[in-house]
Amino acid sequence: MIEIRAFTPADEDPVVALWEEAGLTRPWNDPRADIRRKLTVQPELFLVAVDDGPVIGSVMAGYDGHRGWLYYLATAPSHRGRGVARALVAEAERLLAQMGCPKVQLMVRPDNTGVRGLYDGLGYEPFDTWATGKRLIVDGPGGPSSSAP
Ligand SMILES: CC(C)(COP(=O)(O)OP(=O)(O)OC[C@H]1O[C@@H](n2cnc3c(N)ncnc32)[C@H](O)[C@@H]1OP(=O)(O)O)[C@@H](O)C(=O)NCCC(=O)NCCS
Repeated sequence: MIEIRAFTPADEDPVVALWEEAGLTRPWNDPRADIRRKLTVQPELFLVAVDDGPVIGSVMAGYDGHRGWLYYLATAPSHRGRGVARALVAEAERLLAQMGCPKVQLMVRPDNTGVRGLYDGLGYEPFDTWATGKRLIVDGPGGPSSSAP
C-alpha cells in the first residue's frame, strides 16, 4: 500500500538514488547536503512516498513566510502514472495551508517541458518571471564551503 510520510534519516540512500534515477541531481547540488540542510528547516515538509517499505517518491516543501515552495518532486519509474506525484503534492499543499501559507509555487528547469502538463492538471498556473539566484555555500567534494567571511 502506498503511503505518504515525513522523511526519516534511513530514507537518505533510497531518496538520493530516486533523485539520480529521476534526473533531478546536478553536479553543483550535493543531494546529501541538501537533505542535511532540510532536516534543520521544516523537516516535516520533506515527504516521501513508500510502497510497503521502499521509497518510491519524494517532494521537498518549504514555507518562507510569504510563499510555499516545492522541490525534488519525483516518482520512481516503476510507480509512475499511478497518482503518486499528485498525492505528494496534495499532502505538501495541505501541510503548507495548515501553516497559513497563501500560495505555493515551484520552478521547473527549462528542458523539463514534459512535466508542465502535470502541474497544469494540478491547478498550477504559470507566471512570467525572471528567476535569478546567488550561491552562498558551494558544495564541493571536500564538503560545503561558505563564501561568507
Ligand atoms: C513528473 C513525475 C514526478 C510525475 O510522477 P507520477 O507519479 O507519474 O505522476 P501522477 O501519476 O501523480 O500524475 C498526476 C497527474 O499528472 C498527469 N501527468 C503525469 N505526468 C505528466 C506529464 N509529463 N504531462 C502531462 N500530464 C502528466 C497524470 O496523467 C495525472 O493526471 P490524472 O490524475 O488526471 O490522470 C515523474 O514523472 C518523475 O519523477 N519525473 C522525473 C522527475 C521530474 O521531472 N520531476 C519534476 C521536477 S519539476
